[in-house]
Amino acid sequence: MKGVILAGGTGSRLYPLTKVTNKHLLPVYDKPMICYPLEKLINAGIEEIMIVSGRGHVGHFLELLGSGSDFGVSIAYEIQEGAGGIAQALGLARKWAGTDNLAVILGDNIFEDDFRNDVESFDGGAKVFLKEVPDPQRFGVAEVNGSRILSIEEKPQAPKSNLAVTGLYLYDARVFKIIRTLKPSGRGELEITDVNNVYVRKGEMEYGVLSGFWSDAGTFDSLIRAGMMVQQHRKKQVESVARR
Ligand code: G1P
Repeated sequence: MKGVILAGGTGSRLYPLTKVTNKHLLPVYDKPMICYPLEKLINAGIEEIMIVSGRGHVGHFLELLGSGSDFGVSIAYEIQEGAGGIAQALGLARKWAGTDNLAVILGDNIFEDDFRNDVESFDGGAKVFLKEVPDPQRFGVAEVNGSRILSIEEKPQAPKSNLAVTGLYLYDARVFKIIRTLKPSGRGELEITDVNNVYVRKGEMEYGVLSGFWSDAGTFDSLIRAGMMVQQHRKKQVESVARR
């Protein structure tokens, strides 16, 4: 499986923090934001990773992460001209990805859970990861029945559950065909939720529910919350080492 980190967008919700740099380079506790999704993919056993980012600050990603050799992986870069949405950004990885399965992660999502087992056992179709949240209307929201997802709604005003669809997705290579069929949403973007609903309708969407912490970091409040979650997690790790 290959990995794609989507780090495009204008970061308008974090302006003026994003006036002179990219959202995904802002600090989350003690590291630039993009290091967290990168480490998630690496810890899941993925060795070939593409970063798709906007044009403005792509050189800074290169300076920070280089070829990936510091991390024992290979990193490729692609540029999304303009802001056409998450699914459009993913579409840019088509040639590089070839026929391989993909783990796609949003560059502003901070996860505690480990995904190695999910990556190793994935055998086609698609898989999303859900997390109970107090404010589901900010996210894609899944309606589930037993082991099945019935539908996913993007930022619904009246959410059918409190299960947010987090920003990690496993797809087979058919995802690129699906992206080509999408029409822009009301906000003028190709939506990842529309991609996911194609797999839902085919009956080929699996889901897992996260047990560890998760946050996006694309607003002032979620950015500071993500930093504090990481800080607390680090403290716990230090305490548990000290207890041994
Ligand atoms: C995106 C997705 C949404 C998902 C969220 C996770 O929203 O469209 O379905 O729940 O990421 O962070 P955005 O942050 O681009 O508004």
